[in-house]
Amino acid sequence: MKTKINFNIAVIGLGYVGLPLAIEFGKFFNIVGIDIDKKLINNLKNNIDKNNFIKKNDFKKSKYIKFSHNYNDISNCNIYIITLPTPVNEKNKPDLTIIKKSLKKISFLLKKNDFIIFESTVFPGATEEEFIPLIEKFSKLKNNLDFSVGYSPERINPGDKKHTLTKITKIISSNNNFCLKVMKSIYGKIISKKLYVAPSIKVAESAKVIENTQRDINVAFINELSVIFNKLNINTYEVLKAANTKWNFLDFQPGLVGGHCIGVDPYYLSYKSLKTGYKPNMILSGRKINDDFPIYISKTILNILKKNYKNLQTCRILILGYTFKENCNDFRNTQVRKILNYFIKKNLNVHFSDPYLKRSIIDVKYKKYFREYINLDLLKYNFIILAVGHNQFKKINLRNLYKNRVEIFDIKNFFNKKYISYSL
Ligand SMILES: NC(=O)c1ccc[n+]([C@@H]2O[C@H](COP(=O)([O-])OP(=O)(O)OC[C@H]3O[C@@H](n4cnc5c(N)ncnc54)[C@H](O)[C@@H]3O)[C@@H](O)[C@H]2O)c1
Repeated sequence: MKTKINFNIAVIGLGYVGLPLAIEFGKFFNIVGIDIDKKLINNLKNNIDKNNFIKKNDFKKSKYIKFSHNYNDISNCNIYIITLPTPVNEKNKPDLTIIKKSLKKISFLLKKNDFIIFESTVFPGATEEEFIPLIEKFSKLKNNLDFSVGYSPERINPGDKKHTLTKITKIISSNNNFCLKVMKSIYGKIISKKLYVAPSIKVAESAKVIENTQRDINVAFINELSVIFNKLNINTYEVLKAANTKWNFLDFQPGLVGGHCIGVDPYYLSYKSLKTGYKPNMILSGRKINDDFPIYISKTILNILKKNYKNLQTCRILILGYTFKENCNDFRNTQVRKILNYFIKKNLNVHFSDPYLKRSIIDVKYKKYFREYINLDLLKYNFIILAVGHNQFKKINLRNLYKNRVEIFDIKNFFNKKYISYSL
């Protein structure tokens, strides 16, 4: 293989992971960002990030970047970085179709001495068992001889302004040293923290998937505690606050686990575990607890409403916050939807609102329940469910709501307790 190369990088999939990465690389290297979403590409060409994480100035600083929806525009690249979605199907089994389809296209463009680096979250073994054979088949080239493969999981946390891409330790891995050297050169240029070289691709894949699985299990444990303490009539947050005074108590809070990562990645690990014949009981029961938690919350609220209202129809309910997490516009797999659906099915008078969402992107089915946050009169409601702790909600005049007998169920322990009627 060549020892001195010019890096021409392609980043495939310009979503939450791919776009920030492409923008950073574009400050130093020739780069083409590819996405099949034409509207997204047009916006990016006009320096618009629909997620609003990348500001106009960042686009300007990324001098060497080009955007395209056409794979032919990456035929001159020699490094292909995959940041494509890795969802689960309706049976919660890993669905690698998006990556596989893209790899087929890339394989036809692949040249001798090129590199493919995966950043998507996968199960241990996916890169070597699923992806490399497919690339070899369609490119007719041999891994480690004609081309190289690396894996470097992304750890960013959208909405988190502290732990941004360039400030967090990045794991890199490959089964060939030259590829590792290239990965060190490119990632080393944009990451201010040290790079961590994992001993193998499988170790790096496993590390990523357990980071999110650990989080899922920890939240599941706290969610289970909140069910127990609710039955005992003890405030969970007060218990956690007291327990957190111990130096080694882990600080997790109850909550809704949705989105594209924490609620999905444990299924990737359990899929692989089940393949070996071992049923990962703790991982799967954690998933079940977290998946059932929105219904538990809905039932708890319904019981409160039944006690407080003779005619449930007279209670105007507002769900405040709909995205899967705070300070972020991503509402894929949001668990708040389960709460909304529960109240809709019960034929209750329910609306939902979120400062990060506009009517135009709300599913037709839910439009009539949606209210734009900007026009919202909170005093019109009798019962507010705080489902997501967006910073914007800090400006709400709680005292006024309290004075006007608007009751609040605070799932997130977000508001001043003085004005809150119910929490977990
Ligand atoms: N979102 C996160 O917080 C996060 C954090 C760490 C890791 N990850 C992992 O990173 C990966 C990507 O996640 P994401 O959240 O950025 O996904 P995303 O859905 O935000 O972005 C994926 C992009 O890929 C595009 N795309 C789909 N098919 C394509 C194709 N064939 N060719 C080109 N583009 C295509 C989509 O249009 C979309 O813009 C996943 O494996 C995820 O688990 C995500």
